[in-house]
Amino acid sequence: MTSFASLVGLFLLLSTVHLSVQNKGSTPHIKEIVVGRCYDYQYKKFGLNATTWKNCSKIWEALYGAFAYKNPCNLTFADYKPYFDEVGMADIYNKSLFWSGTYKAVHSYSEFDIRFTTLEDTMAGWIVNELAFCGNGNLSRNTTDGIDYDSCPKWNESCDYTTPFWGQASKIFAENARGIVRVMVNGSRGNHTPAYKRDSFFGKYELPSFHVEKITELVIIVIHTINGMEYERCGKSSIKLLQEDAKDRGISVSCRDDPDDVRHILCADHPLSRECIFLDEAGYRNRTVVRYKCRNPRGLAVSGKASWLLITASVIAAAFTVVNFK
Ligand SMILES: *[C@@H]1O[C@H](CO)[C@@H](O)[C@H](O)[C@H]1NC(C)=O
Ligand SMILES: *[C@@H]1O[C@H](CO)[C@@H](O)[C@H](O)[C@H]1NC(C)=O
Ligand SMILES: *[C@@H]1O[C@H](CO)[C@@H](O)[C@H](O)[C@H]1NC(C)=O
Ligand SMILES: *[C@@H]1O[C@H](CO)[C@@H](O)[C@H](O)[C@H]1NC(C)=O
Ligand SMILES: *[C@@H]1O[C@H](CO)[C@@H](O)[C@H](O)[C@H]1NC(C)=O
Ligand SMILES: *[C@@H]1O[C@H](CO)[C@@H](O)[C@H](O)[C@H]1NC(C)=O
Ligand SMILES: *[C@@H]1O[C@H](CO)[C@@H](O)[C@H](O)[C@H]1NC(C)=O
Ligand SMILES: *[C@@H]1O[C@H](CO)[C@@H](O)[C@H](O)[C@H]1NC(C)=O
Ligand SMILES: *[C@@H]1O[C@H](CO)[C@@H](O)[C@H](O)[C@H]1NC(C)=O
Repeated sequence: MTSFASLVGLFLLLSTVHLSVQNKGSTPHIKEIVVGRCYDYQYKKFGLNATTWKNCSKIWEALYGAFAYKNPCNLTFADYKPYFDEVGMADIYNKSLFWSGTYKAVHSYSEFDIRFTTLEDTMAGWIVNELAFCGNGNLSRNTTDGIDYDSCPKWNESCDYTTPFWGQASKIFAENARGIVRVMVNGSRGNHTPAYKRDSFFGKYELPSFHVEKITELVIIVIHTINGMEYERCGKSSIKLLQEDAKDRGISVSCRDDPDDVRHILCADHPLSRECIFLDEAGYRNRTVVRYKCRNPRGLAVSGKASWLLITASVIAAAFTVVNFK
């Protein structure tokens, strides 16, 4: 994650922790990227059935109008409202996945809406994810497009120019959550960075925006860094606070430390580490290889590793097929 990515990423996960973010300017060619992503998203979601497509030029205009020629430090939720109105968001049943401090893991887990839906998998978030954009009140209307490509303000408490967009996006995402909702938090963040903070995006914009009567359960998923320290677990310290805050809102809560499905995904990057030993214990690594070798002494069969790749590939292909024909 670089530039705005790190800004948004860090910002979403950090909240009050101080931010030392580079103040690079807006992403070059942002208009083309936004319009392109907008059509690409709809193509992936709806296929060629253009009757359901939204007008991406209009969406760009709504986004652009929110910040161009404006002092970024003065933006409010109202500025970006036309964008969110234009893009819209459907209710998400049983699949909403919120996150705090787990950016990378959560998106491997959600897999663009296949398993779960994160804010960044919704159209409103997808279109601008990891892009930087800011205006500048000093730019001439005659000679510029009002977008500051040279620098955006350094983020600080008095110039918090990302919250009018991402705070609002988070709020709308939470308002549309239905049924079972999940939040993935990081139990390995360290002594000084709790997994849950009331002034994080989750604590400030998401938890308070749930339509409680439409939420059946909040599942808290606590993940721990492979080969890393475990500072917090379910029922302890800030995670206990999160459980209590959700209960106080009238939401029924459950909490799981490192559930198997998440662990498998994390272990994909660290197959040999101690925490991933369950792969060994289940006999996966040696069993497949040995079996194939015994049955096929001439070496015609695929190796254990290759068969895993094949299985993975077919699962992914199947998943994509499902999505494409939905
Ligand atoms: C296209 O979408 C519309 C509206 O959702 C639907 O009524 C129609 O059946 C779809 N057409 C095809 C070919 O999928
Ligand atoms: C899409 O929106 C743009 C800008 O508002 C408008 O000029 C254009 O006519 C619209 N296109 C369609 C197909 O509605
Ligand atoms: C931004 O807000 C400040 C304080 O609210 C105000 O003094 C200033 O004129 C505003 N600037 C712009 C460009 O709107
Ligand atoms: C959501 O999950 C609940 C419980 O598993 C189930 O009863 C319900 O039908 C699901 N809703 C949808 C829309 O899938
Ligand atoms: C959890 O936090 C630790 C410490 O900040 C970090 O190294 C790790 O990457 C985080 N885990 C995830 C999945 O983001
Ligand atoms: C706008 O111009 C004023 C006066 O020249 C300057 O003080 C201010 O820093 C400029 N703002 C930005 C965002 O460049
Ligand atoms: C911008 O263009 C308008 C009309 O062409 C002109 O009247 C105005 O003086 C120009 N402003 C600047 C700052 O160049
Ligand atoms: C925050 O950033 C703005 C714009 O860069 C700057 O004008 C302001 O002095 C900064 N405030 C603090 C408290 O650092
Ligand atoms: C699997 O095979 C490797 C290399 O042949 C060996 O070092 C390891 O002990 C084996 N693991 C188990 C669980 O048998």
